[in-house]
Amino acid sequence: MRSHAPNGATCDVVVVGGGIIGLVTAWRAAQRGLRTAVADPEPGGGAAKVAAGMLAAVTELHYGEQDLLALNLASARAYPDFVAELTSATGMDLGHRTCGTLAVALDADDRAHLRELHALQRDSGLESEWLTGRECRRLEPMLAPGVRGGLRVDGDHQVDPRRLLAALLRACQSAGVVFHRRWVRRLRVEGDRATGVVLDDGGVLAADRVVLAAGSHSASLDGVPPSVVPPVRPVKGQVLRLQVPRARAPFLNRTVRAMVRGSHVYLVPRENGELVVGATSEELGFDTTVTAGGVYELLRDAHELVPGLTELPLTETRAGLRPGSPDNAPLLGPTELPGLLLATGHHRNGVLLAPATGEILAHALTTGELPEQARAFSPGRFRTAAHHLTEQPT
Ligand code: GLY
Repeated sequence: MRSHAPNGATCDVVVVGGGIIGLVTAWRAAQRGLRTAVADPEPGGGAAKVAAGMLAAVTELHYGEQDLLALNLASARAYPDFVAELTSATGMDLGHRTCGTLAVALDADDRAHLRELHALQRDSGLESEWLTGRECRRLEPMLAPGVRGGLRVDGDHQVDPRRLLAALLRACQSAGVVFHRRWVRRLRVEGDRATGVVLDDGGVLAADRVVLAAGSHSASLDGVPPSVVPPVRPVKGQVLRLQVPRARAPFLNRTVRAMVRGSHVYLVPRENGELVVGATSEELGFDTTVTAGGVYELLRDAHELVPGLTELPLTETRAGLRPGSPDNAPLLGPTELPGLLLATGHHRNGVLLAPATGEILAHALTTGELPEQARAFSPGRFRTAAHHLTEQPT
């Protein structure tokens, strides 16, 4: 077998997957002096290429996800420094916009839901202000007259994930990360440890440690022992992009979102006039078809929220696959197979969690352990639950 290792040597780390999580992991690992390679036929792609880039720790809060909230908040706090560092390393503008978010209600059910969310946010010590419909429209004059109230969350911002991917690629290259633009055929396991990967051309990428960061494909890598296969599944999201003509700017000043008849819809306005409308949430396996029904539902709900939106040019329709996990939280760090680490399962929070994931994985790769803030996200938590179930007395 041929060896593809950088400089003919075994590298310290090979990252499987060059999406946002794989790239941030590789960048941080290389910065700490680890010889790092990334294997991906098209690095800089994946779910983040489709994502709107909301940094929505507060407005996407759910019951029972307090550990995830703590991680999301830590990553949101890290964002300004992360963006500054990446911008200074690459000279690239990431479209980070500290614009805040307004979550609104269109009918009595939506309003009840939003009141519940507000109570949960307050109980969790988060900043969020209840506004009347009139106050919402004063902030965002394009909102429909029927808006019944809303939550103003000034701490939930946005970044442009496409720019972020491009900057991470450049930063990785500058930091010496070696890219192998190929599919990974399987994990290489020798004795009781992972020792690299085999690429689709049969070449071997030998490494002391392998980080599996293949998003929704993370459960499909051949050679991973069944007990450590991450329980990750694809959750389809269809997303639209519209363009606000210069003459109509600013169309919206901040991210506007709502629950409409039980489905989430959000509108994310960029400074360059792009308006991202998302997103469906569909359990359809590895299907990235953009459907008439998906586009219809997004436009129908977005139109109820902001009627003037139907006059804007529709510039793109696309579907991506979120890597969903059983508890909606990521799987981070060492597995029970020595040499294999995970950085996957980020579900709705991949863009938000990029800074935290980079730091956590770099810590795990250099010390062999998870930092305190990440212990709740150890991949072993699902295996432990399965063990307890099988060990119940009958
Ligand atoms: N965080 C937004 C989404 O997953 O649709």
